[in-house]
Amino acid sequence: MKIGVFDSGLGGLVMTKAVFGPLGHYDFAYLGDTAYLPYGARSKEKIYERTRKGVDWLMRVKDAALVIIACNTASIAALQRIQREWLPANFPDRRVLGIVVPTIEEAADANNIGLIGTVSTVASGVYESELLKIAPNRRFRAVATPLLVPLIENGGDKYAKEIISDYLAPIADVETLVLGCTHYPVYKGLIRRILPRARIISQDEVLPPKLADYLRRHPEIEGRLSRGAGRFFGITDMTRGYIAAAEQLFGRAIEIERVDI
Ligand code: DGL
Repeated sequence: MKIGVFDSGLGGLVMTKAVFGPLGHYDFAYLGDTAYLPYGARSKEKIYERTRKGVDWLMRVKDAALVIIACNTASIAALQRIQREWLPANFPDRRVLGIVVPTIEEAADANNIGLIGTVSTVASGVYESELLKIAPNRRFRAVATPLLVPLIENGGDKYAKEIISDYLAPIADVETLVLGCTHYPVYKGLIRRILPRARIISQDEVLPPKLADYLRRHPEIEGRLSRGAGRFFGITDMTRGYIAAAEQLFGRAIEIERVDI
């Protein structure tokens, strides 16, 4: 059986590439719901419906024993409902994990914490409420940065410095900045240069050790994973920009299939 990774678009590929580092001997299936990208601007109900369909497809068609919802927006809108309602009724012996709580655990030791994410992620308030559960009395400020996903998906790097500097100006004094979107690791070097004194928490650095640790603690899941280093990449709408960005990310041509979910 495989490890499944679900995302709205390119961000999940960034995460998948990162987990190949320590866990590349397992078989992976990645699904990006590019037909509905960006999730950040969609309703909670639509994000839930698409995420549930994506997880179902990864489990049913690709035989995923474990699916990581790598997208923050989808983790916030859909993870709890999938875990509580859908999974027990459909695949009770499989697991679905999100990205928000592992990220917060990394940030929690700072006093003055900032977050950037999609409009939907910031408006949900979930990062703040989850953080305050494990670390009360922290100063927390979040800024929605809706231009970053379209910039990344469409190769707009040359505009990134000005836009990111402008977004970060009101929270430039944070001690730790959480990049609360799976697309943002693409700009982590730039963000580290813009805020050189802050600790930048980038999910491509958070997810691989957390997932490795999860598998160590869950032999009932780990024992079912096949180890052929197989890779499947699927997206729900084939766009030229996406393929180009994916190839730039991996530094080579990769085979990507269009799928219906
Ligand atoms: N990957 C999504 C996230 O982590 C953002 C992209 C989108 O808006 O679809 O929040």
